[in-house]
Amino acid sequence: MKLIVFGATGPTGQFVVKQALAKGHHVHALVRNPGGLIIADKLLTKTKVDIFRPEDISAHLSGSDAVVSCLGTRKQALFQRSRTTFYTESLQSIVEAMRMSETKRLVCLSSWGTKRPMYLEWTMRNFPIGKLLDNMLEMEEYLDKHCSDIHYTIVKPAGLLNKDTSDLPLETSQERVKGCKMTIPRGDVARFALQCVEQNTWINSRVSIGIGRWK
Ligand SMILES: NC(=O)c1ccc[n+]([C@@H]2O[C@H](COP(=O)([O-])OP(=O)(O)OC[C@H]3O[C@@H](n4cnc5c(N)ncnc54)[C@H](OP(=O)(O)O)[C@@H]3O)[C@@H](O)[C@H]2O)c1
Repeated sequence: MKLIVFGATGPTGQFVVKQALAKGHHVHALVRNPGGLIIADKLLTKTKVDIFRPEDISAHLSGSDAVVSCLGTRKQALFQRSRTTFYTESLQSIVEAMRMSETKRLVCLSSWGTKRPMYLEWTMRNFPIGKLLDNMLEMEEYLDKHCSDIHYTIVKPAGLLNKDTSDLPLETSQERVKGCKMTIPRGDVARFALQCVEQNTWINSRVSIGIGRWK
């Protein structure tokens, strides 16, 4: 397959790129800093883009089978006091570029816990992590309400560990996956994202993923 990867320089994005290449897919990484992706492979192309300019991105998307977005703003947002808009703004730009280039398949990352119980509302809303989750929820709702023409999958992992795939079975649920560990290796998230693309599963859905507690 011909895959476009956003956020390919990030820790999860790098697992996606490595696993996709190992499976023989062509990968085009659209990044702001090509030097940040040190992987080299004959199946890998790297291009510098401004992710907020759909008119620039769309030409690179033409002819691709799917877009995988691992974009995130973790480093900045952890210290951010104001509202975060990164997830909605970057995703809207990608969707616009997909429409311009008639690309249909999108897999993007959100998180467990974007919808929280009322008793956590006040506390979470005032913490940077709450602002981040709020904007992820807005991104999810944008896809649900305005993107029925895009074959999207929103992958919602538990807390990320910088580890390669565990190869354990992945547990899935539309909401939080009960009975699973609170963390998951980034390699497993990459494995699931690629599985969604290859098997064309979880179309127009949000899917929470985790790995089993006792394995
Ligand atoms: N951390 C957790 O426990 C957790 C849990 C659940 C879900 N998630 C979500 O999972 C996803 C992946 O997380 P992660 O920790 O692997 O990655 P991350 O650090 O959140 O994302 C980094 C990636 O986004 C890119 N990026 C950020 N701002 C950009 C901009 N303005 N223009 C272009 N690229 C930009 C970075 O590029 P540069 O390399 O150029 O900076 C990098 O490739 C994120 O959406 C995250 O919120 C995280």
